[in-house]
Amino acid sequence: MDYEGLKEQWSEIEDRDGVRLSWNTFPSSRMEASRLVVPIGALYTPLKEKTDTPLLQYEPVSCKAPCRAVLNPYCQLDTRAKLWICPFCLQRNGLPAHYNDISQDQIPPEYHPSSTTIEYRLKRPAPSPPIFLFVVDTCQEEDSLKALKDSIIMSLSLLPPYALVGLITFGTMAQVHELGYTECAKSYVFRGSKDYTSKQVQEMLGLGQLGPRPNMQQQPGRPPMPTGAGARFLLPVSVCEFQLTNALEQLQRDPWPVANDKRALRCTGVALSVAVGLLETQYVNMGGRIMLFSGGPATEGPGMVVGPELREPIRSHHDIDRDNIKYYKKALKRQFYDNLAKRVSHNGHIVDIFAGCLDQVGLLEMKGLANSTGGHMILTDSFTSSMYKQSFARVFNKDADDNLLMGFNATLEVLTTKELKVTGLIGHAVSMNKKSGSVGETECGIGNTCSWKMCGIDPEASYGIYFEIASQGGPNQLQQGPQQGMMQFLTYYQHSAGQFHLRVTTIARNLSGPSGDPAIAQSFDQESAAVLMSRIAVFKAEVDDGPDVLRWVDRMLIRLCSRFAEYRKDDPSSFRFVPRRSLFTSANLNRLEKNFTLYPQFMFHLRRSQFLQVFNNSPDETAFYRHVLNHEDVSNSLIMIQPTLDSYGFDHEGSQPVLLDSTSIQSETVLLLDTFFHILIFHGETMAEWRKAGYQDQEGYDSFRTLLEAPKEDAKDLIQDRFPLPRFIVCDAGGSQARFLLSKLNPSTTHTTGSYGGVAQTAQTIFTDDVSLQTFMDHLMKLAVSGTG
Ligand SMILES: *[C@@H]1O[C@H](CO)[C@@H](O)[C@H](O)[C@H]1NC(C)=O
Ligand SMILES: *[C@@H]1O[C@H](CO)[C@@H](O)[C@H](O)[C@H]1NC(C)=O
Ligand SMILES: *[C@@H]1O[C@H](CO)[C@@H](O)[C@H](O)[C@H]1NC(C)=O
Ligand SMILES: *[C@@H]1O[C@H](CO)[C@@H](O)[C@H](O)[C@H]1NC(C)=O
Ligand SMILES: [Zn+2]
Repeated sequence: MDYEGLKEQWSEIEDRDGVRLSWNTFPSSRMEASRLVVPIGALYTPLKEKTDTPLLQYEPVSCKAPCRAVLNPYCQLDTRAKLWICPFCLQRNGLPAHYNDISQDQIPPEYHPSSTTIEYRLKRPAPSPPIFLFVVDTCQEEDSLKALKDSIIMSLSLLPPYALVGLITFGTMAQVHELGYTECAKSYVFRGSKDYTSKQVQEMLGLGQLGPRPNMQQQPGRPPMPTGAGARFLLPVSVCEFQLTNALEQLQRDPWPVANDKRALRCTGVALSVAVGLLETQYVNMGGRIMLFSGGPATEGPGMVVGPELREPIRSHHDIDRDNIKYYKKALKRQFYDNLAKRVSHNGHIVDIFAGCLDQVGLLEMKGLANSTGGHMILTDSFTSSMYKQSFARVFNKDADDNLLMGFNATLEVLTTKELKVTGLIGHAVSMNKKSGSVGETECGIGNTCSWKMCGIDPEASYGIYFEIASQGGPNQLQQGPQQGMMQFLTYYQHSAGQFHLRVTTIARNLSGPSGDPAIAQSFDQESAAVLMSRIAVFKAEVDDGPDVLRWVDRMLIRLCSRFAEYRKDDPSSFRFVPRRSLFTSANLNRLEKNFTLYPQFMFHLRRSQFLQVFNNSPDETAFYRHVLNHEDVSNSLIMIQPTLDSYGFDHEGSQPVLLDSTSIQSETVLLLDTFFHILIFHGETMAEWRKAGYQDQEGYDSFRTLLEAPKEDAKDLIQDRFPLPRFIVCDAGGSQARFLLSKLNPSTTHTTGSYGGVAQTAQTIFTDDVSLQTFMDHLMKLAVSGTG
């Protein structure tokens, strides 16, 4: 099968199971695996929305402890003896009584070949309805605060009536609003400069540090109602909507005066620790989200990220690089936010961060809260922007049954057959420190465990999971002929409808034959591999120096090329990307030049991307971009790594994909760039002149009018269900906004040769020191054939 056919097959599997693997045939020895350079990995989207996943209304049939694998299509089923043999541990298990009617013609649904992914609705009910605790910054301009209040009030109508809601506001001080008190507005005040312990928070709120769990009064068919002390602060929307709406409407800007040369005093750290402490008493392991709305940086108390003096700028990447980071270090040294992140993820609660500010708010310092709890991070200029409003509203998207598309208190466990071991996970989760026979010796990402906790999970949330090969590979194994290596992913979560669910995905792939088996090379999924490697690179970038990470990316690429390309040693001109074995052949030859291949190109763009080149962005922006990359599936991640570019012109109907290259800028075309975070429409020089002259409004220029409209329509489609909502930019050749486009293009025309790939001379030249793709590839080939790597 050619690469196109394979890609189609992989995308069908992705649709069914939410999984894309880097290698679709597994090597059968450690030695062989290490020669592959790119690790065996899976990008897995556990809750991928599908219409055809069976939802079983009974408890899963599991293998004996300690295995606990769930019955799946790869088991051996003995329908007469009512037995099944587990492919993970080879134990025999009996089937429970309700399987008595099964026969050869009537197999249980979880055994059906298409049931590689299956979901169970478990009997275990959620211990409490979902909780939404709003934490609102009041140090804001009136219009921004008003827009924020309106959006939160609007969100109440999107919540199920039984959801519990609460409100904390903060400025110079933090206030917890007692929604259960209906006589008048009442709140508890916390000093912004003080570092409150969990116990102090609970005492001040009168919750008692180890108070009984709220006594849930459950009426049949209705979710339970809290009655404990916490019920003064967290109440069902249906009960307190009026009170909460009132409290929000009455909310004023922080009354504390702010001098002209000062920043507002803002105690974000205290507000967050009070929120975590409030849920820590009586709501541990009950699904909930703390939603922080921040209008500026923390300038007061624990967790402050900049002083109140305006002349003192907030830290930049250069400051961090030069170690010039007083508050950053302090916040890190005392690990205020990271400790808070540990507590909140342990408690099973999610933290979302919505920033509405032109300056930085401290996402860099706070990111652990969102990345360890599956929270969202949305970075916008203001709460009045449509980017904020629409992104926030999308958090409350619902499924066809009107249930919120979010899961709570989620965990993921990975089982493997003996040939494979799991080495780690990269994504929004924390380790559960669970050891098992499936845990590998090496570590990639969050490792040394077979189980992770993600707290929050949604249908798009995707996790990079990495594996190693256990076997040293003896002659014995090779004689047994082809075998399969298997993985099973078990995702438990609190469904927003109030029940626990379990999603089970089981994956089996052939193990390779004797070493040098061409099946391995053919099974390489370049797109998935590029995304899995990008996650590793970004994970490394969190701890290592930027140049070290770039060197690692290069080294891995050179080694991969040395291993899989065909060449004569020390002769770059002989370099070929094994076209017949289709390892590197382009999936979409129209998009790319034929002799440029996908994977090296992805790595070229990754090196230049904002994920690894941080100096053009603020530390907050970097934290935001990396956070989103760690949440998305293969196709969205690829758009971020290598944006798509489409051209609209008179010589062809509709749009045409073009190279992400400066040669694609032509004066008589309109371009549409999608970087995932930005959607940009660019009018070539002549197009811009004609538009300014108003030809589109004149009779007889219909085709020009249509041509101007087409990219707008397509942009609308792209924005349709994107989260967060991208920034939308319309610009002309020569305009200042065009830099967004130019920064993403391969600077081919700075190359000394001038023209490139036979493209016309009209192409715009980008002045930059960047190396072009061509130069990059030349170097790559030279290094690969010399065996330096
Ligand atoms: C929430 O998840 C934890 C594991 O992180 C689990 O121990 C706990 O039982 C879950 N909560 C409920 C109510 O099941
Ligand atoms: C999450 O944030 C912490 C810092 O708070 C950082 O050390 C860690 O690497 C981040 N995790 C990921 C997957 O980026
Ligand atoms: C896996 O191995 C079997 C048996 O050798 C073979 O028939 C099948 O085509 C292989 N599958 C793939 C995807 O290579
Ligand atoms: C790509 O292929 C074309 C035509 O086969 C050739 O002229 C060009 O030099 C090749 N480019 C590289 C970098 O190999
Ligand atoms: Zn088993």
